[in-house]
Amino acid sequence: MEKTFLMLKPDAVQRGLVGKIITRFEDKGCKLVGMKLIKVDRSLAERHYEEHKGKGFFEPTVNFIMSSPVVAMVWEGKNVVAIAREMMGSTNPASANPGTIRGAYGMDISRNVIHGSDSVASAEREIALYFRPEEILEYNKAGEEWLSE
Ligand code: PPS
Repeated sequence: MEKTFLMLKPDAVQRGLVGKIITRFEDKGCKLVGMKLIKVDRSLAERHYEEHKGKGFFEPTVNFIMSSPVVAMVWEGKNVVAIAREMMGSTNPASANPGTIRGAYGMDISRNVIHGSDSVASAEREIALYFRPEEILEYNKAGEEWLSE
């Protein structure tokens, strides 16, 4: 089953949006298989955003995710990478559809509430950055048979 890495960024934690955002993924039918509240250090933050090194927003983005605790999560489900990206909305909350997470809860690209892997390959890389294999749990979830064939 496909897995994705989602991070509730410092603004989501500080603004008390953690429960509301997790509820959206639970309601959708996604399965939570890993979760922790952590303070990201510089080494991890720079590895997370390494593809953006050299861009103007690299340093502010790295500093932002180090600024306060984040909730790191792994969610599982059929096509969950693409589904989560749709639910998150455009990178810039100012232009994100109001029905999406960023559209509902954000105002500015520098504080866009949530990160989500943009491909299956990115998900694998990001999950390995944040989680040890034993921190990803396998379990049967009630009602799974009512989500897809
Ligand atoms: S890009 O512009 O296509 O390379 O952007 P993207 O692949 O969506 O990811 C950029 C990440 O940096 C965060 N960020 C910004 N991006 C663009 N412009 C500005 N000003 C900016 N500030 C911060 C953006 O939120 C993306 O991080 P994640 O964690 O994926 O949301």
